[in-house]
Formats: sequence, structure tokens, C-alpha cells
Amino acid sequence: MYPEDLRARVDAALERLRFSAAPATAGLEEAMRYSLLAGGKRVRPVLALATARSLGADPERFLPVACAVELIHTYSLIHDDLPAMDDDELRRGLPTSHVKFGEDVAILAGDGLFAEAVRLVCEQPGDPARVLAALRELSAATGVDGMVGGQYVDVAGEETDAEGLRDLHVLKTGRLIAASVGVVLTLEGLGKPETIPYRRFASELGVLFQIVDDILDVTESDEQLGKPRGSDERHGKLTYVSLFGLDRARRLAADSHVKATEALAGAEGETGDLRRIADYIFTRNA
Ligand code: IPE
Ligand code: IPE
Ligand code: MG
Ligand code: MG
Ligand code: MG
Repeated sequence: MYPEDLRARVDAALERLRFSAAPATAGLEEAMRYSLLAGGKRVRPVLALATARSLGADPERFLPVACAVELIHTYSLIHDDLPAMDDDELRRGLPTSHVKFGEDVAILAGDGLFAEAVRLVCEQPGDPARVLAALRELSAATGVDGMVGGQYVDVAGEETDAEGLRDLHVLKTGRLIAASVGVVLTLEGLGKPETIPYRRFASELGVLFQIVDDILDVTESDEQLGKPRGSDERHGKLTYVSLFGLDRARRLAADSHVKATEALAGAEGETGDLRRIADYIFTRNA
């Protein structure tokens, strides 16, 4: 099953994070920690730690960069839920940031989480050149050729076909998930050929993650998801379900899961946890 021990380490490390040095900004820290500690599956940081374990490294050492990825992901959720974006009022089983703190504070909480993530990566122990390369990789996965670019393509709403949809999923969700594995490979200084199976696995896993998210938006309840069911349909979003229908979307998810696990089979190391995360992402119901 899902590596709960790694998830517990991530949760403990996130709980220890503090951001505000002055009483005047305590309210901003409260909003940042509210969303960060509201729960969440922690798939991205757990992937980072599982990658470390596969390579025979101590997962504990990678907690700063793993937490950084979760901060960036949480920032993306806060902004994704804003009235100007998906306009959703429930996230991780709680009222969304803008409902609880107001839109102004929610925007700043997202901004703050991104900046604090960059700081965390800069504090990652390791060879400075590798830390810099990891920071570059993570910020690229977040930027225009990554999550933010994908969110732009999503709101622009101009994609209409299968290829455009896959590209959207790669950017919006795939790049950050791929970087969760990639930054650890980079920090460990692995040579290019050895990293290829890991990188192929992680890229496919990212797309699989968003296909399953599209399916769950239709099949599950608000309570089960901790976020509002039917958000995509309400906004006329192009998703795997809207384009292909539920049955075909499920088959495409199964194909993607096979591709991801086949890629992993070519990776050196003890990859059991990564395999279990892929199975979890495919079979999850929240
Ligand atoms: C939801 O991400 C947004 C997508 C990128 C699909 P998660 O499903 O990982 O959300 P949490 O972190 O568990 O709340
Ligand atoms: C958003 O995709 C992915 C992000 C980059 C935040 P969705 O809009 O489908 O995510 P949910 O379903 O609200 O979690
Ligand atoms: Mg969205
Ligand atoms: Mg959304
Ligand atoms: Mg969704």
C-alpha cells in the first residue's frame, strides 16, 4: 500500500514549518498553514522521498525539497479555487482559503507559499550546484512551461482535441509531479541514462494523476473528495471525461498506469514504493 511512513514524515515536517517573523504577518502565516495542514494526500512529497529511498539514500535528507513541492502544490490549489478561477468553496474538506480569509489574503497566502518554497529549496543540504539545478527544475515545472502555463491553457479554454488535452494535463499537473521525482535525481547527481526510466515513469504518472482527477470529479461526492464534485462540468472544462466519456477515460487511465509501471520496471534500485504510489494514484477514490 501507499508508503504511510513517508507521508507521516512529510506531515511532521510541514507541521514544523513557520513563516512569520513579526506579529503583523501572523495572520498571513495562519492562512498559509490553514491550507497546508488541512490534510491532502501528500503525493508529491511522498514521491520525492520514495525516489530517495529507491536510490538507497536517506529520505529524511530530502525533506526540505519535498516540503517545497507541497508548498507549491498548496499555493496552486488556493489560487485554483479563487472566484476568478474555478470558484470553489471546499478544499481538503474545509472552506477554501478565500472563503475563510477573503480573496486578498488567499492570493497572498498562495504567493507566500511559493516564495517560502523557493527558500526551502535554497536551504536543502547538498552540493550547491546540484541544489541550484534542483531549484531550476522545480521553478521551471511551476512556471509557464509547467503548472502556471497549464492553468493558463485551462482557463483560456481553447483546446478541443485529445492532443491538446494531453498537453494541458502534462503542463497543469504532470510537470510538478515529474519534478517531485526529478529534483531528487538531480540532487543525487545521477547521470542521464540512469534517470531515463525514472523520468519516463514520473511523466506518465503525472498525466495519470490528472486523468483520475477528472474521473473522480464526476464519480465521487463532495465528502469523499473534500472538494466540490462536478466543478469541471459547471465550468465547461475540457477533461478526459468530457472528451471521451467515463468508460473510455477509465480505459485511458488504465493504459497510462501500465505505461508508468512499465517505465519503472527499467529503473535500477528498490522501486517498490514508487510502484505502490502508482497503484494508489490509479485506484484512489479521493
Ligand atoms: C488536486 O491535487 C489538484 C490536481 C493537481 C489534480 P491532489 O489530488 O494532489 O490534492 P491534495 O493535495 O490531495 O489535496
Ligand atoms: C488544477 O486542476 C490543477 C492545479 C494546478 C491546481 P483542477 O482544477 O482539476 O484541480 P481540482 O479538481 O480543483 O483539485
Ligand atoms: Mg482548475
Ligand atoms: Mg479546480
Ligand atoms: Mg479536478
